[in-house]
Amino acid sequence: MSSEQRTWGGRFEAPMHELTRDYTAGMDRDLWEFDIAGSIAHARMLGRQGIIPAGDADAIVAGLEQLRERFRAGQVPWQPELEDIHTHIEANLHALIGEPAGRLHTARSRNDQVALVNRMAVRALCDDAVAGLRELLTVICDLAERHAADPMPGYTHVQRAQPITLGHHLLAYGEMLLRDRDRFLDARRRVNVMPLGSGALAGAPYPLDREFVARELGFEAISRNSIDATADRDFVAEFCFAAAMTGVHLSRLAEEIILWASSEYAFVRLPDAFATGSSIMPQKKNADVAELARGRAGRLIAELVAILTSLKGLPLAYNRDLQEDKTAYLAAGNTLIPSLRIFAAMLPALEFNLERMREAAGQGYALATDIADYLVRKGMPFRQAHAVVGGLVRLAESRRCELNELPFEAYREASPLFEPDVLEITVDSSIASRDVPGGTAPNRVREAVVALRREFAAR
Ligand code: ARG
Repeated sequence: MSSEQRTWGGRFEAPMHELTRDYTAGMDRDLWEFDIAGSIAHARMLGRQGIIPAGDADAIVAGLEQLRERFRAGQVPWQPELEDIHTHIEANLHALIGEPAGRLHTARSRNDQVALVNRMAVRALCDDAVAGLRELLTVICDLAERHAADPMPGYTHVQRAQPITLGHHLLAYGEMLLRDRDRFLDARRRVNVMPLGSGALAGAPYPLDREFVARELGFEAISRNSIDATADRDFVAEFCFAAAMTGVHLSRLAEEIILWASSEYAFVRLPDAFATGSSIMPQKKNADVAELARGRAGRLIAELVAILTSLKGLPLAYNRDLQEDKTAYLAAGNTLIPSLRIFAAMLPALEFNLERMREAAGQGYALATDIADYLVRKGMPFRQAHAVVGGLVRLAESRRCELNELPFEAYREASPLFEPDVLEITVDSSIASRDVPGGTAPNRVREAVVALRREFAAR
């Protein structure tokens, strides 16, 4: 393409090197829907305000609607010499309706145009993420309710610590993902500001009705500063952070599924539909879905770091570095949303080995804290009780037995406060005793499920 055919070709004499053409091309071809919607609203406003002839505005709108159908049908080829999606749409509109197309870019710069498209795209991605999280939270609440009283070992330092319920453990992820959902909703509020009318950076010398454009496109507000509106991408960074945080949460859950599916834990059997095999080892069934979700969390973090690094040190206002914003948020959305979907499908299909989890919950002196609490209830200061039970653990370890396999005499010797009912401390009694708001007692878990469901239905 010669320089005159470019939207900005007028002041150029020599043609562009094809390496420059390819190097500067936008990664934005999937954003046509947003750009067309934005242009339709802009053209309508220009017509209503008498900035361009009403007939031209109508022709532009009709042409853009026709072009939208062509994009939907995959009939608009990508021409690298046209640089980005904005110029593609303008050039195609020109081919379609001729002369009036030349008035569409009145009172507009690609700098505010791309800010608009970005905000519409990130807003849609926030909505997708919220929907994906809602689906996953529904699944987690259902599972937590079903397993509200099923014991498993709770861990700290990957050492068995205290018995908990599977429902309580799953709800921990429910709480994290609910906050993630809130982060997307929160980010969406700041995304939902309409930048068009900012021009290249200074505003536009026409009597624009920016509020009209905002209403047409479903924006809550219009931007207050044209430089900020064209130069900042903090909303992209916020989206990328929310995505990275969600990815990190999913990754921790993924890691646990991987561990639990190992023969060392044997807490879950992977459903065939969500596992893969080995090309050499016939016996293998691998948790590749979880491993990929764990791996992709790394990429989500990378997108956040990429956008922050691009912004750092950029002078105001627009610089071409900002074109890289799309790579970050599109990759983040395309990485996160499928992970949310597949987790919502996979979790209900996991087969928990509840018997094995229950058995493991009582092993490894997991009831030691409960025995110390027993002494506290008999009047002993906790620190002293801790030491007494520590001695019993040492004794049990030397006899290679569990605490409840020690004879009652051993308890009596350790403290006269022990009565035979100390041997009635079980995994179930331990769990039931943690009956505080936020605790693992089954009725508290059921309560928490209700509260969580209420929370995510509320917004
Ligand atoms: N494609 C660019 C972007 O995505 C918008 C074009 C602005 N170009 C310019 N030279 N000011 O950010």
